[in-house]
Amino acid sequence: AELPLDQLIASLTVDVPDHPEPGIVFRDLTPVFADGDAFRRMVDGLATPGASDPRTAALATRHPGGRPFDVVAGVEARGFLLAAAVALDAGVGVVPVRKAGKLPRERVSAEYTLEYGTATLELHADSVRPGQRVLLVDDVLATGGTLGAAIALVEQLGGVVAGISVVVELAALGGRQLLAPHTVHALWAT
Ligand code: PRP
Ligand code: ADE
Repeated sequence: AELPLDQLIASLTVDVPDHPEPGIVFRDLTPVFADGDAFRRMVDGLATPGASDPRTAALATRHPGGRPFDVVAGVEARGFLLAAAVALDAGVGVVPVRKAGKLPRERVSAEYTLEYGTATLELHADSVRPGQRVLLVDDVLATGGTLGAAIALVEQLGGVVAGISVVVELAALGGRQLLAPHTVHALWAT
């Protein structure tokens, strides 16, 4: 029988102690991305945030075709690998949420703290239109600082966060609580 997806992700993830700094156990997902079967199943799972969010399901049923989001936003850098695949599969576009200084045109910015530091994320002002439903995708939910900033950017532009999907949720760090009332769809919680 096929291994459940959370067990498959867990079995391929490599824990790296003290990276990028002492005391952090870094969850390295590169072997999960490198596995064709795992990648296929991850992308499918990330595209269905409604699986754990009744609000997203409600957003979908009110729209023609039942599609629950209009665009996928990926968070630099690991979120990019996932967001593009999810968007292509769903037949929608993809927009990049980038670290400061990378986007060349008019943009919105949000500063945040993450498990190991602080940074600034940016989004082009024309990447999200008012009322557009955005699926946010990243690989890891840790403290939630990163996705919190991404939510703020989407909402600054008048967008609606239609779902938040991650591969791994590090539950002890409380990211889910930080992001409430938004709900997170995690393929593996640990
Ligand atoms: C990692 C990860 C998430 C974020 C999660 O990215 O890919 O984006 O940290 O942490 P948080 O929930 O505590 O905010 P990182 O900033 O290391 O960037 P990278 O993807 O460019 O390596
Ligand atoms: N991003 C934030 N914390 C992380 C961790 N422990 N492992 C991998 N990515 C992360």
